Amino acid sequence: MQKEAVRQRAWLILSFYPTLHYFPGVGGFMFISDPFLPGWQRYWVKQCLKIYPRKPNVCNLDLHMSREETTDLWEQSREQLRLKAPGKREAKSLLEKLRWVTLGYHYNWETKKYSPDHHTTFPTDLAHLSEQVAAACGFQQFKAEAGILNYYHFDSSLGIHVDESEMDYSKPLLSFSFGQSAVFLLGGLKRQDPPLPMFIHSGDIVIMSDRSRLFYHAVPRIVPNLEGRAVPSCLENTPIRDNCSADTSYQQSDEDDWEICMKYLQSSRINMTVRQVVRVGQSFPVVLDIEKMADSQLYSYHQDATEDHEHKRQKLETPAESP
Ligand SMILES: *[C@@H]1O[C@H](CO)[C@@H](O)[C@H](O)[C@H]1NC(C)=O
Ligand SMILES: *[C@@H]1O[C@H](CO)[C@@H](O)[C@H](O)[C@H]1NC(C)=O
Repeated sequence: MQKEAVRQRAWLILSFYPTLHYFPGVGGFMFISDPFLPGWQRYWVKQCLKIYPRKPNVCNLDLHMSREETTDLWEQSREQLRLKAPGKREAKSLLEKLRWVTLGYHYNWETKKYSPDHHTTFPTDLAHLSEQVAAACGFQQFKAEAGILNYYHFDSSLGIHVDESEMDYSKPLLSFSFGQSAVFLLGGLKRQDPPLPMFIHSGDIVIMSDRSRLFYHAVPRIVPNLEGRAVPSCLENTPIRDNCSADTSYQQSDEDDWEICMKYLQSSRINMTVRQVVRVGQSFPVVLDIEKMADSQLYSYHQDATEDHEHKRQKLETPAESP
């Protein structure tokens, strides 16, 4: 285990060694409590709301809306979100209807597979963050190839499941959490294994590797942050400007954008997960053309089935509120 501070790319994280917790007896499960430098959580939240939902990345709204309608969810939602009065039931903006975004190798919820035919460039900034975190946890060669961003509200939950669609289980699964808190249940290799419950707060990073890579887990509840504030105080820090970040895709987070993000986060949580899909030197199994056709038909036409499946996997909201 690398005890040194993560010094390269300090624009992301300085040193999380003091906050890295191991769970004895739970092989390979690691929990890092908020290692982000002041202001950097804001950066990632804004990426998740403004940048990553853009094309060519894929989101749940693409399944039943045209490309034109989902071109810029941020622009289409910002005014509505800004004017939103707390506690009042109003029509939801598109951003509030966003449930997931996929990056890199786009996870197909229907077939539960990745495909070499459905791949777009993985965001460089998130790849750097993930590779740094993985390296500091002892995984030097980690390649960020697929991302699933999940957007939760107070009425959302994520059912018990195992992430087993990737082809290389020797690589960790990283989850970054922002916004409101969550109750996370870490089970075992068998569905009926008694779970270990824990809170996950804004900025926390969960790493599932080795034995725990294939453990069952679930997010039964999203809960308000324990500080009792509209958004946790770690999100209120402004970024430290440094001149070394010119080589990154860092953009000055302007206050107007942050106001929108804050509005959104008052009742939401974002979870970015990053995975390596293929082992170095490994390639995707050959899929017969006929199977491929079946897959793509399901993907594009069987919206109801897709939604159904999504519901089972992620009982996100009552049907009346479905997008
Ligand atoms: C960063 O750049 C600005 C303007 O180019 C300069 O005034 C400032 O001193 C620099 N800060 C550091 C920490 O180097
Ligand atoms: C984050 O989302 C992924 C993908 O849906 C899920 O497997 C993982 O358990 C979630 N992790 C946390 C900490 O919410």
